[in-house]
Order: sequence, then structure tokens, then C-alpha cells
Amino acid sequence: MTTVLVERDGHVVTVTLNRPDKLNALNEELLHELGRAVLELSRDPSVRCAILTGAGEKAFAAGADIAAMSEMSTTRAKQFAEMGHAIGHAMETAHFPVIAAVNGFALGGGCELALACDFIYASNKAKLGQPEVNLGVIPGFGGTQRLARRVGEARARELCMTGDMVNAEEALRIGLVNAVVPHAELLPRVREVANKMAAKGPLAIAAAKRVILRGADVPLPTANELEATAFAALFGTADQREGMRAFVEKRGAKFEGR
Ligand code: COA
Repeated sequence: MTTVLVERDGHVVTVTLNRPDKLNALNEELLHELGRAVLELSRDPSVRCAILTGAGEKAFAAGADIAAMSEMSTTRAKQFAEMGHAIGHAMETAHFPVIAAVNGFALGGGCELALACDFIYASNKAKLGQPEVNLGVIPGFGGTQRLARRVGEARARELCMTGDMVNAEEALRIGLVNAVVPHAELLPRVREVANKMAAKGPLAIAAAKRVILRGADVPLPTANELEATAFAALFGTADQREGMRAFVEKRGAKFEGR
């Protein structure tokens, strides 16, 4: 059985973590498959949005595979962390938005994968957290950094140092997730959002994603310069002509990503 399922529907791709009997715990095999899948999608300009979710009713991913990690040497642990980081980086720098559809537990590495996605939509049954301190370790796939950037340092410190989980409502309150959706409606709702974005100018979405990412860690004037440059570059695209002409001609725009 493959540990990662990839399904395409037009410009939208759904990637499903698929070890439901282990609550989609992230072992090396799954991380390899996920890394490969994300890399392939990021080389395909026809992909305009991806959804990342977990198989089964209970979990998005309940973390890195603890059984597999229990005997790791420091060298292996570093390699393992780097696999997680590479996937986070690949999702963050992909040309398309990635939406995490958190359908249950998103703990440890599961929460960290969701944090590397552009948006997080959570089922009302979701529980999120960084429980690594319960195991004598810390987050290793970017949790200490992306969590703080998303919810602020105070909350990130609390989550990483207490190991407490938050439910979906609390996750929404602290800004960890974008929206909470009734469990059965999660995927239909996320697909709606994905299809909406897939109909927009893909080069514009890629530029917005890139500038928000790159601008976050540099001084504001430098970030604004990045924005102005990316804005101007879009005026060299057919999509900009089409988008603005369609508005003037009072019709829907048809974007081709060029
Ligand atoms: N690594 C490896 N296996 C895991 C796992 C993980 N992170 N999380 C769950 N599993 C496995 C369980 O061992 C169990 O396998 P088994 O049926 O072969 O015994 C199966 O998934 C179901 O989990 P179970 O614990 O029975 O479900 P539950 O509903 O009682 O509890 C959790 C759910 C999420 C609270 C609990 O599984 C848990 O605490 N998981 C670990 C969370 C964690 O610390 N993650 C961070 C890792 S760095």
C-alpha cells in the first residue's frame, strides 16, 4: 500500500497521507513519498492548488512515527528532521497554494506539515499541538519557527513547552487555523476554496505567495521593494492583459498562466 495518495481533479490536486491505522504517523517511507509527490507537483505548471489531508476519520497526522524514532542516532535524527524541513520548504516555495485540510489530530510533525501550508482549514473535531516535550524532544520539522511566526512567540512558547493540544475553536482563536468547518463538510469546503483559487491568475498567485514568504524575514522597505518588482513583472504577462481586458469588457477572465 502506498503511504501517500495523489488525486488530480483539473488544476486541483489532493494529496492524502495514508497510514490510517497508525493515525498517518510520518515514517521515512511516507516522508519519501510525500517529498517526491510535492517535488513532482511543483514542476508541473498545470497544478494551481493542492490540498493536503489525512486518510481516515481520526487524523491528519498524529506526528512523526514514534516507534521508528525511538532508536534513532543523532545522525539519523538530523537526516529525518531534514526530510521534514525539505518538504516544508518545497510546499512553501511551490508556485501554487497548499491548503491543509486538518480532519483530526495534527500533532508534532503533522502540525508542522500543516504550518508549512498556506492555509489551514480544520474540522470541528481537529486537535492540534506540538507534544514533543512529552517524549523528551522538541519539534524537528519547523514547529518552533513556523508556529511562532503564525501565532506569535507567546503562544508558540506555550504550545511547545507544555505539549498541550488545542481544539479547533481554540486554534481558530489564536490564529493557528484559518477556519473551522463541520467535519463532514471539510473536504467539500476546502475544494471550493481550491477551485476558486485555481480560476485566478496562477502567476499572480505564485507572485503573492513568493513575496509574502520572502518579505516576512526582511526589513519592510526591502519587502515593499520585492512587492513592487513582482507587481511590475506581472505587467509582462498575458494573464495581466487578459484579466484587465476581461474586466473592461465585462466578462470572466480566462487565465492561462503565461
Ligand atoms: N507514531 C507512531 N504510531 C502512532 C503515533 C505516532 N506519532 N500516533 C498514533 N500511533 C499509532 C498508535 O501506536 C496505534 O497503533 P496500534 O493500533 O498499532 O497500537 C494507532 O496509531 C492508533 O493510536 P491510538 O493511540 O490507539 O489512538 P487514540 O485515539 O487512543 O490516541 C493520540 C490518539 C493521537 C492521542 C495518540 O495516538 C498519541 O498521543 N499519539 C502520539 C502523538 C505524539 O506525541 N506525536 C508527536 C510525535 S513527535
